[in-house]
Amino acid sequence: MSGAPGTGDGLGTFYDRVNDALAEAMGGYLHGGYWDEPVDPDAVEQAADRLTDFVADRLRLAPGQRVLDVGSGNGKATARIAARHGVHLTGITLSPYQVRQSAALAAALGLADALDFEVHDMMALGFPDASFDAALAIESICHAETRTEAFAGLARVLRPGALLVVTDFVLLRPLESEEHRALVAGAIKNYQQGPMLTQEEYEACVRAAGLEVVDFTDIGEHVRPSYRVVGHNLARNGEKLRAHVSEEEFRYMVEDLARFGAITELGYAVVTVRKPDDAAAREGSR
Ligand SMILES: C[S@@+](CC[C@H](N)C(=O)[O-])C[C@H]1O[C@@H](n2cnc3c(N)ncnc32)[C@H](O)[C@@H]1O
Repeated sequence: MSGAPGTGDGLGTFYDRVNDALAEAMGGYLHGGYWDEPVDPDAVEQAADRLTDFVADRLRLAPGQRVLDVGSGNGKATARIAARHGVHLTGITLSPYQVRQSAALAAALGLADALDFEVHDMMALGFPDASFDAALAIESICHAETRTEAFAGLARVLRPGALLVVTDFVLLRPLESEEHRALVAGAIKNYQQGPMLTQEEYEACVRAAGLEVVDFTDIGEHVRPSYRVVGHNLARNGEKLRAHVSEEEFRYMVEDLARFGAITELGYAVVTVRKPDDAAAREGSR
């Protein structure tokens, strides 16, 4: 088990262990929510639904399209997108447990024909060139040590003109205190993430992979309440998680989460990316 971000089975094992406790605290999903004031802490699932829809709506999907969900977690967002947009999605994750859960969810919702899930590393995509019309990656590219490498693989499997929408944590300005630096280091370590980048650095990674940035929107203000609410939910039902994580992971994931969410130097970016239309022609003329 390497434990290195974005590689090997370290992260798959991590999500095997924490999936259920996290999903229970996060409204069934494994991502934050989109909140407006006043925040209703009992509406965590609706907030996470809103974030899923915010991402999927930016993909401008048409029924029948083939979509890749990169880091699909337990498949809840994947299934919601299939049902709302009439598309076929392939969800990939490093966690075998999540694949089993996702397949069971698809069957339970009568969506088995619209959804495929597999253990598949986003850093070593085995799909044919140009095999997807669109892709999304909600809080998964953050696990890549090198964002450019992740984007380059996605660029290959997207058809020319296809959109990719990613959500990721970004640095809006330098971290202001030792406490904030320690909390961010704790997030990177305990969630096995790559470094947090500025908008400029992030866009440079996208472009280095041959993709265009269509839009970069920070919705941190709307996502930040998630950490307070989820931290509270996890603390209420902490024993479930405690059985599957180390003391350090528990401290970070439960006790420090609200403080992490209060770091206003951090943003939550929704990045819309396009594979240039002329990519096929350019590749052909090489
Ligand atoms: C925070 S969860 C997000 C899950 C889902 N997108 C959601 O929004 O509910 C991160 C997911 O990314 C997946 N992931 C991380 N690194 C990966 C990689 N290299 N290849 C495939 N999946 C990866 C994890 O297995 C996990 O399912």
